[in-house]
Amino acid sequence: MSNVVELRNVVKTYDLGGAIKVDALRGINLNVERGEFMSIMGPSGCGKSTLLNIIGGLDSPTSGQVIIDGIDITHMSERDLAHIRREKIGFVFQFFNLVPLLTALENVQIPMIFAGRYSNAEIKERAIELLRLVGLEHRLHHRPNQMSGGEQQRVAIARALANEPSIILADEPTGNVDRETGLKIIHLMKNLNETLGQTFIIVTHDPDIAHISKRIIYMLDGQVIPEPPRLTMNPSSSILAEERRKMLLSELKWLEVSIKNLEAKKMKLNKESYLQAKLGYKKRLEMLKKALQEEYKGRR
Ligand SMILES: Nc1ncnc2c1ncn2[C@@H]1O[C@H](COP(=O)(O)OP(=O)(O)OP(=O)(O)O)[C@@H](O)[C@H]1O
Ligand SMILES: [Mg+2]
Repeated sequence: MSNVVELRNVVKTYDLGGAIKVDALRGINLNVERGEFMSIMGPSGCGKSTLLNIIGGLDSPTSGQVIIDGIDITHMSERDLAHIRREKIGFVFQFFNLVPLLTALENVQIPMIFAGRYSNAEIKERAIELLRLVGLEHRLHHRPNQMSGGEQQRVAIARALANEPSIILADEPTGNVDRETGLKIIHLMKNLNETLGQTFIIVTHDPDIAHISKRIIYMLDGQVIPEPPRLTMNPSSSILAEERRKMLLSELKWLEVSIKNLEAKKMKLNKESYLQAKLGYKKRLEMLKKALQEEYKGRR
């Protein structure tokens, strides 16, 4: 299967002047296959948004290589990058980022107007169709402040799909809606992935998103790590309690997904390695559950 995203040794260093530098990404290697539904987890500040912005051509790496849909975008001019973003990428942000003075219908039309690919009549028809797809045919003429958070996020998803991008990038898409609305948004994205075949890369702290993802990658301190850090073995007092709980919970989800994937692969593995992997995961799961119980006891 072909890769829709290829990152090779991507480094991003922010230079804040003086001698202050922040290493936001420290050599990321990552391949994402067409049609994947993948989530990225990791503690605050580990570089998730930076990574997403670089994949989406909103930011460029300090060094390394970024290949999107077979095109090397690493050294592209801003003008060419804008073209790539318009043609290949759909963004969904935590705070929706809709244009406040425009209606839902107009917000979804904007990217198509800029792309100049469709006639005016087609643009309107497509926008209505997309809003119907996200269940908002009754909100076409509402402005963002006349809609709920969940409705605004669904408009944002419709907008992201407007130019039939190969990749949808979402940065904490359920970060600002209640849990029930979050679940609806997650299922909508998953359905779109299954029916339209678009690739979804989702940065999230939300265990429900991680749960339905086929693949979770975990980041720590600017790097992709093969599995979440083992906090239960190496408790570090420098990590805030809340952050620690979040990390334990995401590891729990990571393990659940790994176990599911292992079961799916069962037939292809020899019996011994299957059993060994399963035992390893199970042990880890038990330790983790204990650690979480301790954490929550400590909180009370
Ligand atoms: N424009 C910038 N200038 C300087 N430093 C930055 C800039 N953007 C991000 N950083 C730093 O780079 C690191 C990674 O930031 P990033 O926003 O990618 O983290 P994150 O994993 O998305 O965190 P969160 O979960 O809180 O959103 C952080 O240390 C951050 O302070
Ligand atoms: Mg972020």
